[in-house]
Amino acid sequence: MTTSYRGPRPLDWVRSIKVKLGLVVVGSVAATVGAIYLSLSVGVHARYAFVGGLVVSLLVIQLLAHGMVMPLRQMVAATRAMAQGDYSQRVTATAQDEVGSLASSFNTMAAKLEEIELERRELIANVSHELRTPIAALRARLENLADGVEALDGDAVSAMLKATERLSKLVDQLLQLSQCESGAIEIDRQSFCVRDIIEDAIAEVRPINAGVRIVAQVNEGLIGIGDSGRIHEVLTNLLTNAVRYSPAGAEVKVRGGPTPDGVRIAVSDQGAGIPPDDLERIFDRFYRVNVARESGSGGAGLGLAIAKSIVKLHGGSIRAEPALPVGCRIVVDLPN
Ligand SMILES: Nc1ncnc2c1ncn2[C@@H]1O[C@H](COP(=O)(O)OP(=O)(O)O)[C@@H](O)[C@H]1O
Ligand SMILES: [Mg+2]
Repeated sequence: MTTSYRGPRPLDWVRSIKVKLGLVVVGSVAATVGAIYLSLSVGVHARYAFVGGLVVSLLVIQLLAHGMVMPLRQMVAATRAMAQGDYSQRVTATAQDEVGSLASSFNTMAAKLEEIELERRELIANVSHELRTPIAALRARLENLADGVEALDGDAVSAMLKATERLSKLVDQLLQLSQCESGAIEIDRQSFCVRDIIEDAIAEVRPINAGVRIVAQVNEGLIGIGDSGRIHEVLTNLLTNAVRYSPAGAEVKVRGGPTPDGVRIAVSDQGAGIPPDDLERIFDRFYRVNVARESGSGGAGLGLAIAKSIVKLHGGSIRAEPALPVGCRIVVDLPN
């Protein structure tokens, strides 16, 4: 919402508040002198001419100074509203002087705060939503057990264990993401063998979907620099997605090679791929391309957000692109 001020602002074009004040003073003095002179020359009594001059002076000040303090008043009102949690306030920032710059900085700040507030609300809504599913599953089972509707057999225990694992994974991921995004984690930069790290990640991910073949193609003796534990985590996240979203019999390829200033690791698969509009958004927290299809089997949509945070902490970049003829490729560039 803009608390806009209507009416003429004759001095909006002046770039300095000092010059503006000078113009107001000069304008009002000139108008006063002119009014007094005119009144005296037409024979008005000096006393009335003086009073008339004062009135003219006040009118001229009122006219010229119009809008000079209004942005400040608006800012006071807007800050009060913001303190109450209303970040929709904006002020008129048409003046060219210092107050105008302050008003436009104020608007930028208000817009940023509004965005942060929206993100915060979305985050809480997403977290609660993701927590609710496994908690509801766990609760339903426990209620059945308590009511004697269901026996405490292997099935019930493993279902409850699965829900608990999902909960703890979600909490771990959230904690990790918040640590990465706040910069609270230390990146232990050391040289590592790219082939070893890729093969370790493949070995860890292979059991998830034995029907998918994972092949590595890495330049001999390729050395990367970074926190090998964290890079391993990025690769397991990418490989888990690649095997999870691939049909049986498909192949996942991990390619490691040099770039002019570091190394590039790319994971490509032959799955359904990612629609062009979602190529950037899949790195957003909780974003899933097809929520309905994936909410049962997949994760919470945090894996790629974590991967992106880790890569960013290394000063690198990560992107998704279509793989030909089908599937997608996630490319990670790490500087040396
Ligand atoms: N290799 C892939 N093929 C197709 N879709 C993918 C692939 N990797 C990621 N995605 C899409 O990106 C979304 C986000 O991935 P991610 O952050 O790892 O979350 P999650 O795997 O927990 O759902 C996934 O839900 C999926 O829709
Ligand atoms: Mg994932």
